[in-house]
Amino acid sequence: MTNPFKFGSVVEDPFFTNRKKEVEFVSKTLDSNNHLIIISPRRFGKTSLIRKVIAETDRKVIYLDVQLTNSVNDFAAQLLKRIYRVWPGEKLRQLVRHFRIIPNISLNPLSNEVDISFQAKEAETPVLEDVFNLLDKIGSEKNRPVVVLDEFQDIMKLGTGMDKTLRAIMQQHQTVNYVMLGSQESLMREIFEDKKSPFYHFGILFPLEKN
Ligand SMILES: Nc1ncnc2c1ncn2[C@@H]1O[C@H](COP(=O)(O)OP(=O)(O)OP(=O)(O)O)[C@@H](O)[C@H]1O
Ligand SMILES: [Mg+2]
Repeated sequence: MTNPFKFGSVVEDPFFTNRKKEVEFVSKTLDSNNHLIIISPRRFGKTSLIRKVIAETDRKVIYLDVQLTNSVNDFAAQLLKRIYRVWPGEKLRQLVRHFRIIPNISLNPLSNEVDISFQAKEAETPVLEDVFNLLDKIGSEKNRPVVVLDEFQDIMKLGTGMDKTLRAIMQQHQTVNYVMLGSQESLMREIFEDKKSPFYHFGILFPLEKN
């Protein structure tokens, strides 16, 4: 499987310690039909924890760090690129052919990966919808993909109303487990705990304590 973690200093076995209860809790939640929200200050080990859980699952996993995306179309393109990594093949190509906005896809001869971009700035919502809906189409009740969106609070920097748009898309999905991680606690709590927020009580909120 492709390693979804390209950057940084997330720890791997055998250095990963003292998170037995947390690993169990996160795994159990992902085996249920619930979404999961993990909040903690920086450097508490959120990314390492989810990585550990992912390493132990045989489910399909998509990992995207929202902090490293710089526009709605870039966010959608990076997500689609990861979907290609996990499900290369004809079924995916067929589905992408039916997108309202067709992405530019080219094979990068150096990395042997696809490079993807969306041009139409005026059609951000259809682009997001089409890409996210792939996740639900390609999964099934028995084969639920796990979609990890790290530094999730940064969706708010991508454009106004992103929370509303994403929530409207995600709540239709029957066969995806979403995991949102965030290190800006007040923003994360605003997104998931404010009654007026579209993501209010979207999933199980798990504050990660210091190791
Ligand atoms: N279970 C663990 N055992 C040992 N060291 C750990 C563990 N979890 C995290 N660390 C250490 O803490 C550092 C921060 O971990 P990690 O990047 O996973 O935290 P984070 O909460 O995702 O931080 P950020 O908010 O900055 O992304 C790691 O580089 C690692 O050195
Ligand atoms: Mg992190």
